[in-house]
Amino acid sequence: MPVLAADRATIARAAELLRAGRLVAFPTETVYGLGADASNDTAVADIFAAKGRPSFNPLIVHVADLAQAEQLGIFSETARRLAVHFWPGALTLVVPRRPHIDLSLLVSAGLETVALRVPSAPVIRALLDRSGRPIAAPSANRSGLISPTRAEHVAESLGVQVDLILDGGPTPLGLESTVIGCVGADPVMLRPGAIAREELEAIAGPLRRAQGAILSPGQLASHYAPRAKLRLGARSVTRGEALIGFGTDLPSGASHVFNLSPRADLREAAANLFAMLHAADAVSTQIAVVPIPAHGLGEAINDRLARAAAPKDVA
Ligand code: TXA
Ligand code: MG
Repeated sequence: MPVLAADRATIARAAELLRAGRLVAFPTETVYGLGADASNDTAVADIFAAKGRPSFNPLIVHVADLAQAEQLGIFSETARRLAVHFWPGALTLVVPRRPHIDLSLLVSAGLETVALRVPSAPVIRALLDRSGRPIAAPSANRSGLISPTRAEHVAESLGVQVDLILDGGPTPLGLESTVIGCVGADPVMLRPGAIAREELEAIAGPLRRAQGAILSPGQLASHYAPRAKLRLGARSVTRGEALIGFGTDLPSGASHVFNLSPRADLREAAANLFAMLHAADAVSTQIAVVPIPAHGLGEAINDRLARAAAPKDVA
């Protein structure tokens, strides 16, 4: 699994591999994705195998633009409004699948819907352009573990299962896309993510937070899990704990300190979250995390932290 700097030549090679049904990892603006040609059943099945992913968990299909998305899914007026406003970008829309399309049934994992995203990061856009295919891509980590925001994370987590890892540096947003379901009458927040609820509600109106495994199978209780034990909402540190902090007023006594954002900026914290979970996990078996505000990107940060702290036997 070579890790190669993303440039014209390596992107062209990656596009060829995708067209040949192979797996390629690449940076998007959110996290690194593990991609395959979404119209190739065997290639999509290989994603599930490489991630060790429960087969009931459907995948996001990345496409070049709204026109390509509308060939695969049926867009309501609200879905189209959201797409026009936020694409290309960190928004995934779950919409009804069109019948008789050239798209693996496995990406929908048995559901009658499909999750679609038009990404903005240059490497994945070039891959969509060069390959001419829709690209199915979950985050490029073993199922249930921390999402990758750097090429090294992908190499450590998936290594041998991937034919090529394109290194485009750290991903700018650092959290997965926000997933909105536009299937019934009202749009539903299926997964908080890199675009904050407030921004989306300004365009789509109030978003209900979906509960339950059927609507969004990826929302397992234990996910993004480090090996270490995580203690949330910590206002003090006990001996031997590493600390994940936010802002300037941090409890003292930690073995190691990783500050998500010394200037208490939620965007900076989101971008640092997974890399700091990786780093803290490497130096300690116990990690304390200070309280993180709930507004804006804090909703998604707290969602990921709660899953990272959940008992691991649940998933
Ligand atoms: O930022 C991202 O979204 C990254 C990059 C690579 O694009 N991808 C990503 O994919 O996070 P993944 O597979 O790790 O998460 C996809 C989420 C899961 O929670 C899954 O259950 C949900 O989207 N999802 C996918 N298809 C769905 C569907 N048809 N109905 C409901 N939820 C769906
Ligand atoms: Mg994931």
